[in-house]
Amino acid sequence: MCGIIGYAGTRNAVPVITEGLKKLEYRGYDSAGIAVFGENGFEVVKQKGRLSALEERLKGNAISGNVGIGHTRWATHGEPSDVNSHPHVGSQSKIAVVHNGTIENYRRLKERLEQKGVRFASQTDSEVIAQLAEYYYDGNLMDTVVKVSGALEGSYALGIMCLDEPDSLVAVKKDNSLIVGVSEHGNFIASDVPAVLKHTNKVCYLNDKEIAVLTKDGVSFFNFDKEPLPKEIETVSWSFDSAEKGGYPHFMLKEIMEQPRVLKDTVRSVLSGGGNKSVIDNLDISGFDKIVITACGSAYNAGVVARYVFERLCRMSVEVELASEFRYKDAIIGDKTLVVLVSQSGETADTIAAMREAKSKGAATLSIINVVGSTISKEADYCLFTAAGPEIAVATTKAFSAQLVLLYALAVRFAVKLGKLPPEKEIALMAELETLPEKAKIILGHTDFIQKYASECVVYKSIFFIGRNIDYAIALEGSLKLKEISYIHSEAYAGGELKHGTISLIEEDTLVVAISNCGRLFGKIMSNAEQVMSRGAKVLLIGCCPEADSASYGGKLSYIGLPEISELFSPSLSVVVLQLFSYYVAANKGLDIDKPRNLAKSVTVE
Ligand code: F6R
Repeated sequence: MCGIIGYAGTRNAVPVITEGLKKLEYRGYDSAGIAVFGENGFEVVKQKGRLSALEERLKGNAISGNVGIGHTRWATHGEPSDVNSHPHVGSQSKIAVVHNGTIENYRRLKERLEQKGVRFASQTDSEVIAQLAEYYYDGNLMDTVVKVSGALEGSYALGIMCLDEPDSLVAVKKDNSLIVGVSEHGNFIASDVPAVLKHTNKVCYLNDKEIAVLTKDGVSFFNFDKEPLPKEIETVSWSFDSAEKGGYPHFMLKEIMEQPRVLKDTVRSVLSGGGNKSVIDNLDISGFDKIVITACGSAYNAGVVARYVFERLCRMSVEVELASEFRYKDAIIGDKTLVVLVSQSGETADTIAAMREAKSKGAATLSIINVVGSTISKEADYCLFTAAGPEIAVATTKAFSAQLVLLYALAVRFAVKLGKLPPEKEIALMAELETLPEKAKIILGHTDFIQKYASECVVYKSIFFIGRNIDYAIALEGSLKLKEISYIHSEAYAGGELKHGTISLIEEDTLVVAISNCGRLFGKIMSNAEQVMSRGAKVLLIGCCPEADSASYGGKLSYIGLPEISELFSPSLSVVVLQLFSYYVAANKGLDIDKPRNLAKSVTVE
């Protein structure tokens, strides 16, 4: 979590850095800060609260300089406060640091420095980096960075400035993302590409234990032996506009509305030539006897949906594991296991650890990732990229939809290779995948009822989501989406499971959202719906249910119909309604939808 940015160039670094921080705020938003080299040394402004609070402070505090660093924080060590905000400056006011990551041995380092008389100002783990750098500094910042890195345990992406070297900025990383951007007016470091897109789309992805030294004139790269490293500057396809709200009140709504385009591009990426198609074509599934999908949060939910699709089409048993559990369970996997890692950011700490655990046991790893250059995309044996573009809202929508589509395509192709699906059926399924963008567009073109219905749901204290089989899988995502942005308590259940305990929670004015796209199970889910309605609940039925007769339930049942689609791909349409529902409930509550409390988008800590 946390976002860092640095700039060395010809422009005033302050607006460049604050603009960039806006694009990183999704990584943490409990405090923000900036440091530049001013006429009298470091000028540091840092402030508890949102970036807007820092901007207010900066209005009355006209600092400027051509080299600077900035930070937006998601607190791990030490409460959100002005003093715990970054940048941290050592007690000799010689070194300033911004840090994304966690320093696991910071207590030990802090104690040692305190014994030598160093006085700490904050409760953070990050301050130890600035203090240690001052302790080691002997006239060369790069040497110092190598020494400091050798002493740190944990994860870090660092931007470091030194008073004695005011024209440069040094960056280094281990286990946290860091990109370098080069532009005509100066050079950047940042946690993620959108932070620099306003200035450049020429970037380079720093690897662990690589150092970047930035000045206004260029960037040099070194290893820890201080040998120069040749690094390639790549041109990214993401545009500046793709990371802007484009007239929508929230990024989340914009990203929901972008889904037809995202679905189309992602489907196309597996059908026509290109990276994804060749990865899938070259993967020999017959060498594996087991697939394990592992991920966190929504990406895990995509895995739960995919399990139904893989098992149905490939007739192969598939396990789905939370990455935070998988990494510690001593999984029974080996060289005949394909471990599939699903992650928008490619930087989620638990998913990275799951990948490394799988590799250490000899399993093959295939990742499904949105952010090019991210840790998982680089370390996994194979990688498929979702064509979602930058996703800024903390709650994922379009990246989730793109993950689903890649997982479907993978299942279809694997089924053919395993001889479980005749070629004509493959053609039919792929053709159906191509209809998804148009069908999603139909839903997005008719949001009036969802908006109105959602506006009436702000009163509920609890909303349950139920479904059977693949509808249950997507119910998990509906429930997560609702609770994370609306703060309404919610749980998802397999419809048949309600009567084994949960039904005791159903009372007057509880809402149950029932999803039904499995025609063969319509009667079953309707009997679950009747069970909860007879105990006072209201039901919102979502699906393709020609037999639905909402009028006969005396106002207790409402129905949102979906375009017709095969059961296996139906989660891609259900989820669009579920996302809109959550969005409009949260919007009606007036909440900060793009930055829900306590959350951050890229969960780079355990
Ligand atoms: C929920 C959400 C999270 C992420 C999870 C994994 O809306 O966005 O649950 O899905 O933190 O993140 P990635 O996909 O980056 O690994």
